[in-house]
Amino acid sequence: MTGQRTIEQISPDEAIAILDFGSQYSQLIARRVRECHVYCQIFRHDEEPSVIQSFAPVGFILSGGPASVYDHAAPRLPAYLLETGKPILGICYGMQLLAYELGGQVMPATHREYGPADLSVCDPHDPLFHDLPSTLRVWMSHGDQVLALPPGFRKLASTASAPIAAFGDEQRRIYGLQFHPEVVHTSYGVQILRNFLYNVCGCQGTWQPASFIAKSIASIRKQVGSSKAICALSGGVDSTVAATLVHRAIGDRLTGIFVNHGLLRLGEAEYNLDLFRRHLGLHVIYVDAAERFLEALRGVSDPEEKRRIIGHEFIRIFEAEARQCGEVRFLVQGTLYPDVIESNAADTRAAARIKTHHNVGGLPAKMELVLIEPLRYLFKDEVRRIGKELGLPDEIVHRQPFPGPGLAVRIIGEVTKERLDLLRAADAIVTSEIKAAGLDKDIWQYFAVLTPIRSVGVMGDGRTYAHVLAIRAVVSEDGMTADWARLPPDLLARISTRIVNEVPGVNRVVYDITSKPPSTIEWE
Ligand code: XMP
Repeated sequence: MTGQRTIEQISPDEAIAILDFGSQYSQLIARRVRECHVYCQIFRHDEEPSVIQSFAPVGFILSGGPASVYDHAAPRLPAYLLETGKPILGICYGMQLLAYELGGQVMPATHREYGPADLSVCDPHDPLFHDLPSTLRVWMSHGDQVLALPPGFRKLASTASAPIAAFGDEQRRIYGLQFHPEVVHTSYGVQILRNFLYNVCGCQGTWQPASFIAKSIASIRKQVGSSKAICALSGGVDSTVAATLVHRAIGDRLTGIFVNHGLLRLGEAEYNLDLFRRHLGLHVIYVDAAERFLEALRGVSDPEEKRRIIGHEFIRIFEAEARQCGEVRFLVQGTLYPDVIESNAADTRAAARIKTHHNVGGLPAKMELVLIEPLRYLFKDEVRRIGKELGLPDEIVHRQPFPGPGLAVRIIGEVTKERLDLLRAADAIVTSEIKAAGLDKDIWQYFAVLTPIRSVGVMGDGRTYAHVLAIRAVVSEDGMTADWARLPPDLLARISTRIVNEVPGVNRVVYDITSKPPSTIEWE
């Protein structure tokens, strides 16, 4: 990517730095802190001290991690940390590290403790456990544990298997928790984090949609000056919210480009255009490239190859259109924080590439454009809240995610016009029935998948040999993990009957009952 990023757009009044020691829960910690209306960012545990210094956190949270403090290569406490004199909360490995480095004793694990435990709080007046019951159900997931307190520390809570399950030094404002307050299985977990943020760090809760919007608009205005910007629109929540913010900041100097790759759902191109017109008031260039994409995809069955072709075509079209817009300096993208975290972590965690994601938020612009990424530090639920605050209607704010390569990854095998039409018709039935049942807001995604399998059926008096269509509906918080939705059997029956009756070429409907992992949400 040659588009370079310019000034950061976030300048929070108060912020927490989360130092990541390799925990699978680091993102969750960040989300919980944000839920408490306190801004935070995740940093690698060995981040440059100058980066942390310019972030100017009012406190630190040390995440858990897979290491043992006794491992030869175990991550250590950064040298600057204690010198800052700021409050610190160590969770799991973070707690053990504090104990170990401050002169306590850590007991190497003989076995792992994983699951729920009952926590007895020693002192209900302690700032961390203030206003909480004296016994709490908490979630444990650890090997080592703290055996002896470091000098100056008090024991704050215990469980049957962890005599020091929480400790603190009120003077130095350093705390440790052996359990995970960030997971939903810990009752009052968010309250404990809130107590740390408000009672220990002195936070005021300034992270609010309205102030984010005001600051973001001011910063975009300053950044763009009198120049022009362009933005790829898909109709999805992220690009729509990003475009709306930038439009508020620079008005008509922003132009949207909507490339219809012909892989959209029934009526979606018209719907999107109408949506842009009604709610964004933005000048949008519409490019109907359906034929071109179909041609490029002819004879291609491999999922990664489809993704590669679609991404490539998309960029070529987008660039050609952008050139028509004249002197443009900026490109608006709807990149979200999880993508940023994942790419920052990519060199430390050997994540296998599961799918090449293509979307309008990931345009590898070869043009020399400077990126504006107003949502770069936001989680999806925050983007939805910002969208709502910006006055965008629920139909946009709660729109379900749709993959950049569209229906191409929901047609297993070659993409043809006939198969697209068939899938669109079936998908429209799934959508309308789930909406009619009032379940659309509870389900993260629901859609139809066209399988390459044909099966024998009987219709009227005749034998049929036609497509098997699959229905996928999942519940999820963030798309990273998901469970199949327990749709009512009557609803499934209605969907199945309607599809087989109304969509020629389908004689069998199956329901996908796999979670993610081990499956993914999309079939390709
Ligand atoms: P998977 O299938 O990997 O999908 O479990 C996780 C989430 O990502 C969406 N998805 C995509 N989104 N470009 C996107 O913008 C893509 O190429 C892409 N592939 C999958 C998927 O719909 C789900 O919400």
